[in-house]
Amino acid sequence: MVYPIVKYGDPVLEREAENVTKFDTPDLHKLIEDMFESMYAAKGVGLAAPQIGISRKIAVIDTSVGEKAEDKIVLINPKLLHMEGKQVSEEGCLSIPGFREQVRRAKKATVRAQDVKGKVFEMTGEDLLARAFQHEIGHLMGKLYISHISALKRDLIKRKIKRLVKAGEWA
Ligand code: NI
Repeated sequence: MVYPIVKYGDPVLEREAENVTKFDTPDLHKLIEDMFESMYAAKGVGLAAPQIGISRKIAVIDTSVGEKAEDKIVLINPKLLHMEGKQVSEEGCLSIPGFREQVRRAKKATVRAQDVKGKVFEMTGEDLLARAFQHEIGHLMGKLYISHISALKRDLIKRKIKRLVKAGEWA
């Protein structure tokens, strides 16, 4: 099932999500399947559960956008363990459509997370994957990428979104 993507302005995007405590349930499997489906439908490389209105610490990532099955990553209750280096590149978010900004991130990031069965694993990503780890884990903490840009640029985006809301073009 493809869920609609929650847009900026919805409080679910700006609060810390709940930890997942039950693993390997049919509900969890189905939710993860739906998250991949919703992410591919929206042509994203990552999706966090709050973006479909579910405040739980689950994120899916696929930097190949559906091209390579082995690139599918599920992060449950993830934490950033280690970050190093820096990269500056354009970043967007399915919850803030129509906007993209240069965002500075660590070049390399190691996460510790649980898989769908609750097994703990660690994974290191570089470049786009490292960016996706940082972006999606941000979502699960209630932080959007625009918190990593200048206040000036952030306010400009917020003003533009306010205008779109008024015009009924942001729902
Ligand atoms: Ni996002």
